[in-house]
Amino acid sequence: MSDRETVVNITVNGQPVEAQPGEWVIAAAERAGVYIPHFCYHPRMSSVGMCRMCIVDIDAGRGPALQPSCMVEVSEGMVVDTTSEQTRKAQDGVLEFLLLNHPLDCPVCDKGGECPLQDQTMAYGPGESRFIEEKRHFEKPIPVNSLVYLDRERCILCDRCTRFADEVAGDPLITFQDRGDQTQVNTFPDLPFSSYFSGNTVQICPVGALTAVPYRFKARPWDLTEVESTYPNPMGDRVVVQASRDQVLRYQGVDSDAVNWGWLTDKDRFSFEATASELRLGSPLIRGTPLGRPDPGGSELVETSWRQALTLAADAIRGAVEDKGPQSVAVLGGARLTNEDQYAWARLVKGVIGTDNVDAQLDDGLPADVVLGLPRATINRSCTPGGTVILMAPDPKEEQGTLYLRLRHAVVNDGVQLIELTPRATGLSHLAAHRLHHRPAEAAAVAAALVGGDIDAGPDGEIGGVPGDALAAAAAALADRADKPITVIVGRPSLAETDGPTVDAVAELARFAKLLAAGGRPGIAFLPALHRGNVLGALDMGLAPGLLPGRVSLDDGGSALAQLWGAVPAAPGADARGILKAAANGHIDVLVLLGADPLGDFPDQDLANAALEAVGTIIASDLFLNPSSARAHIVFPAAGFGERQGTHTNMEGRVTRERQIVTSPGTARADWAIATELARMLGADFGFGSPEDVWEEITRVAPSHRDVSQEAIDAAADGAVVADSSIAFSPPEGPTSVPHVDAYSLRLVSTRRMYDRGTLFQHVPSLAKLAPNAVLALNPYDFDRVGVDSGTEVQVISNVGELDMPVVADPGVPRGTAAFGYNHPDLDVRALIDNDSVVTDLRIQT
Ligand code: SF4
Ligand code: SF4
Ligand code: FES
Repeated sequence: MSDRETVVNITVNGQPVEAQPGEWVIAAAERAGVYIPHFCYHPRMSSVGMCRMCIVDIDAGRGPALQPSCMVEVSEGMVVDTTSEQTRKAQDGVLEFLLLNHPLDCPVCDKGGECPLQDQTMAYGPGESRFIEEKRHFEKPIPVNSLVYLDRERCILCDRCTRFADEVAGDPLITFQDRGDQTQVNTFPDLPFSSYFSGNTVQICPVGALTAVPYRFKARPWDLTEVESTYPNPMGDRVVVQASRDQVLRYQGVDSDAVNWGWLTDKDRFSFEATASELRLGSPLIRGTPLGRPDPGGSELVETSWRQALTLAADAIRGAVEDKGPQSVAVLGGARLTNEDQYAWARLVKGVIGTDNVDAQLDDGLPADVVLGLPRATINRSCTPGGTVILMAPDPKEEQGTLYLRLRHAVVNDGVQLIELTPRATGLSHLAAHRLHHRPAEAAAVAAALVGGDIDAGPDGEIGGVPGDALAAAAAALADRADKPITVIVGRPSLAETDGPTVDAVAELARFAKLLAAGGRPGIAFLPALHRGNVLGALDMGLAPGLLPGRVSLDDGGSALAQLWGAVPAAPGADARGILKAAANGHIDVLVLLGADPLGDFPDQDLANAALEAVGTIIASDLFLNPSSARAHIVFPAAGFGERQGTHTNMEGRVTRERQIVTSPGTARADWAIATELARMLGADFGFGSPEDVWEEITRVAPSHRDVSQEAIDAAADGAVVADSSIAFSPPEGPTSVPHVDAYSLRLVSTRRMYDRGTLFQHVPSLAKLAPNAVLALNPYDFDRVGVDSGTEVQVISNVGELDMPVVADPGVPRGTAAFGYNHPDLDVRALIDNDSVVTDLRIQT
C-alpha cells in the first residue's frame, strides 16, 4: 500500500516501484528484483562511486542521462532504464577499463568461480580488450597482516576494504597509496592491518585481491557445500558454513538485519580450523590401564567404548546419589551447547538425578535474575537513532566484536548517545558522549548519581572517582533524551571484583526504569553482555541454580514440571563458587564438566584446584582435553559447531538455528544424545530421537518458549525473540560494602582480551600466536606516584600473590587503577586476585 509521505514512486525498466525516501537507485531497483551490476557499492557502507559499473540511464525530469545508480537518490517520478543501449555500452566500457591492468589469472586465483568481476565480464563485458600494452606488475601477494594477503595486481580500487576498515571497524590501517596506474591499497609502513575484523575485507572484496590465509587454495567454490547457521557466540552471529569432503573450510557472515549485518570477528571467522584439529576428541576416554580396564586411580586416559564410558558414568552417579544424596552430584558449564543439549542435560540433572547444583557460568557473569528479570533490549533497539546506550559491561570490542561494530555504527551514523559507565576506557571511548570511568567496584554510586540527578560530589569533587561536573553533564544529557529508548548493556566489567557492585548499579538503573515507564516514556531495557557462547540459552533451559526451563524459578514452577519430569530438586542448589567450595570440602562425589574448564577459567584457581583434587569422579563432555577435562575420570567426545543440529539463543533472547554440515570426529556425539543415553542408564526414558523431539518438549514445558515452535523460528529470517519471563529481578537488600583503597595501592581491574589462551582459540593455529602477553597498565600520571618508568619489569603484589610483569602507560586506565588482561598465555594473573574480597588492591615494587 502506498503511503505518500513514506514512499517515492519511480519507474524501473517500465515497472512502477515504490522506493523509500533517501534510498539509492541501485538499492530500490534491487528490492524490486532488478539487479544492477556493481563493485564498489555495499549496502552497509557509504556510497563512493568509485567503479562506475552501476551506471544506468536515469531520468529525474531533465531527460535520461548516464549516472552511477549507487550515488543518486530516488526522487518522485524518476525513470530508470538499466537495459538501454547507452547503459550497455557504458557498462562495456567500464569493464574494458577495469580489465586493462587486470592480470586475469583466474585459473590460479582464489576468487575464481565466485568472482563478481569474472561474472560481470561474462554477462556485461565487451568480449575482447583493445589493450596491447604491458600491464602493471606488483609483488604478489603481500601480507597486510598474518591472516590476510593482498594481490595488488587484481585490485580494482573499489575502496570497499579501506572503507570497511575506516567506517565500520574504526581501524583505518589500510589506505590507497601512490597515483595513476600505480595506485594501490596498502598498509602504512611498519604498521600491519591490526584489526579484529580484517577477515571481513576478504569477504567483501569483489575480486581476488584480498585472500584469507587460512582458506587460500583449500577449495574451489564449486566444491563447497554450505548451510546457513548461527555462530555459537553471545551475539548469535549469522553465518554460512562451507565445507568440502566432510571438512569445514570457511565461515562467511550473513547480512542479518537484526544481528551482525554480515560481519564476523576474525576470532570467530577463522575458528573453523579448530573443528578439524587433530587434537579433537573422537572416542570416549576413561582413566585406566593401557589394556582398557577401568582404574579410577590410573594415571592415563585410555580410549574405550561408549557403552563402557556411559556405564561407568551412570554407576558413579548412582553410587553418589545412594551414598550421600543427589546434592553430591554437581554440573559446571553448558554454555558451549545448543538449547536442545542444554535442555536434555537440565532434565537429566534436575529431573532424574535430582540435584540443583548446576551453573553454566563460572563466576564471570551475572545472577540469573539480573539477566532474566529485567526488560530485555534487542540489538536494534539499542541502536535506535537518537537513543542512549549506557555501557556498563566489559569492552565490547574485546568481548562482543560484532556488537561493537553495531554500536559503533549507531553512534557514528545514527546519533546514538553513548554513556560509558566502566572502570576503564573501552574501544568505544573515543566515540562516547560521556565517559564516566569510575574506581573499580564503585559503579553503583555513579549510576545512582547519573539517574538520580542529585550530584553531591563531596569535598574531593567526585563520586566513585568520577568528577562531579562530568556526572552532572551526563545526567543532564540522559534526562534530555529520556523520550527516546535507553539501553543498558550490562555485564561483569571486571573479573577482579565480585558481582555485587554491578548488581547494586543495576538496581539503581532498574529503579529509574520503573520511573520512566510510569511516566509513559520508552524507558530502559537491558542487553546482557555475558561472556560464554550460548549462556543465554543455558539460563533459559535451566542450567543455573534455582531455575527451571522457560525462565521459571524452582520455587514457582517445580510442581508443574515434576508431573512430566517425575521429580525436580527439593531446594535451590549452589552456584559455581558454591559447587567448587562444596567439592573442596568433600561434599561433591561426582562433578560433571560440560565444556567447562574451571582450572583454566575460574577466577579462583586455588579453589578450582582443591575442588578437582577432592572430587571422586569427574565426568567431562568436551571437544578437546583442557586442563580440567585432562583430569577427568570419564571423558565423552562431543559434537561441535558445524557437526550438530539445534538452536541457539543470543543476548536478545533470539532463537535461531544451528545446522550440521560435517560429521563429528570418530564417534563423538551431540550432547543431547549423551544426556539422553545417560538418563536411560539411570532408568529414565526421555523418548528423544532427534533435536527436533527435544525442541518439541521444550515448547510444551518451558512457559517462555510456548509460542516458539520450529515453524516460528523458521518463519522469519532472523529467528524468533523470546520475551516472556516469570523471573523478577530482586534488588539486593543492602549495598555491597566496598573497602577504601589506601594511598599506596592501586585498585585492580581485570578484563578479557579478544585473543587469549582459551581452549578453542588455542586450537586455531592461524590465531593462537596472536594472543598478547600480560602487561600491567597504569595511567601515565601514576608512574611518578609509584616510582617506576613505563616499560620496566615490576613486581606486582596483592594480598594473595605476586607476579613479575612489565608495566606500561595507558591513558585509558583511570588514575589510581591498575589494569591487566585476564587470560594471557604467558602469565596467569589470577594468582593476584583476592577472591575473599569484593575487589583487589595491588602494590608495585621495582
Ligand atoms: Fe579472475 Fe576474478 Fe581472480 Fe581477476 S579476480 S583473476 S577476474 S577470478
Ligand atoms: Fe576493492 Fe579488493 Fe582492491 Fe580493496 S583490495 S580496493 S576491496 S578490489
Ligand atoms: Fe556505483 Fe561503483 S557501484 S560506482
